Amino acid sequence: MPLSNRSTLTQYLIEQRRRFPGASGELNALLLDVSLACKAIARAVALGELGGSSGDVEMVGGAVNVQGEVQKKLDVLSNEVFIRRNEWSGHLAGLASEEMAEPYQIPANYPRGKYLLVFDPLDGSSNIDVNVSVGSIFSILRAPDEVTQTGRDVKEADFMQPGSTQVAAGYALYGPTTMLMLSVGNGVAGFTLDPNLGEFMLTHPDVRVPEDTREFAINASNSRFWEAPIKRYVDECLAGATGPRGKDFNMRWIASMVAEAHRILMRGGVFMYPRDKKPSPQTSALRSSPPEGVAGTLGSGPARARDPMLNAGRLRLMYEANPVGFLMEQAGGRASTGRQPVLGVQPTELHQRIGLVFGSKNEVERIERYHQQPA
Ligand code: AHG
Ligand code: MN
Ligand code: MN
Ligand code: MN
Repeated sequence: MPLSNRSTLTQYLIEQRRRFPGASGELNALLLDVSLACKAIARAVALGELGGSSGDVEMVGGAVNVQGEVQKKLDVLSNEVFIRRNEWSGHLAGLASEEMAEPYQIPANYPRGKYLLVFDPLDGSSNIDVNVSVGSIFSILRAPDEVTQTGRDVKEADFMQPGSTQVAAGYALYGPTTMLMLSVGNGVAGFTLDPNLGEFMLTHPDVRVPEDTREFAINASNSRFWEAPIKRYVDECLAGATGPRGKDFNMRWIASMVAEAHRILMRGGVFMYPRDKKPSPQTSALRSSPPEGVAGTLGSGPARARDPMLNAGRLRLMYEANPVGFLMEQAGGRASTGRQPVLGVQPTELHQRIGLVFGSKNEVERIERYHQQPA
């Protein structure tokens, strides 16, 4: 299709807003600011060493974030870009990020709005210095009425909303092309950045995840720490055509979840980063998170006794699992903790981790069945 016939991100958002007569257009303006942040990060990523932003943050003893991870310069730069591109607009009551321990308060000289922006400014940081695709992930929630009515500073509790309440979510993928994948609750659309125009052009108007797949993604070096249902699923995939699945599988692991999610949105697949028994000394306090199924979590059933050795895995609920889970569900795929839909988990901490399985519906449902069967 010739470029002149393609919609821009702005056009798509306006057309989507027409579904809600009387809508203010604030969400659209916010999403355009987020997309500008992604364009700026895309440029910094593309410059690599030339931009002076590769490598670890240079501080005595290195900079370690609230996750217990050594921060890359681009982690910090990307976080700054998201803040500067969004704090001024008057659409946000507050922001929260992987790279900030506490929520970010909108400075007093800027107006405050009705949305909360939660983001992973640079996903796949360990790949940045080896020139492998990385991305940014964002999630938009409504601030509680009391926050918007009073204009008060935001607190962690204001962000504790299940993924099902997200107003919009998406990611930018900084790969051979820069792409933006977005859902405003009406399916998933994909946009490709035209670097000459500086515009995200609509290239994938209605993304659907194939319900079946022969491709799975998991970090197999953790296999000795997996719970039995995951081990069973992976062993069956590895057994191939002569095993219980009766077909051969392929495996991928990029270590940038955004890149894995994109592959799955484009051609199907299943991604697993399950909760596991991996001891992680430097982040033991952080890697463990409230046990899933804790009383009060939506649809979780009775609280389960917590296995002290059980970690919640590596991925974070608020700014990795929920936004990607929202996209997967909107595209006809499925996103689960293995035991319940991830979008139904009631968050209790901003940086809490969660076991995550997402992708082709039939495969995720199989993995959930294996978790329901007695050990
Ligand atoms: P981040 O770079 O934002 O900290 O996230 C990295 C995550 C995710 O993108 C990826 O799937 C996973 O970490 C890779 O984990 P391993 O390094 O354990 O494979
Ligand atoms: Mn990180
Ligand atoms: Mn990440
Ligand atoms: Mn990150």
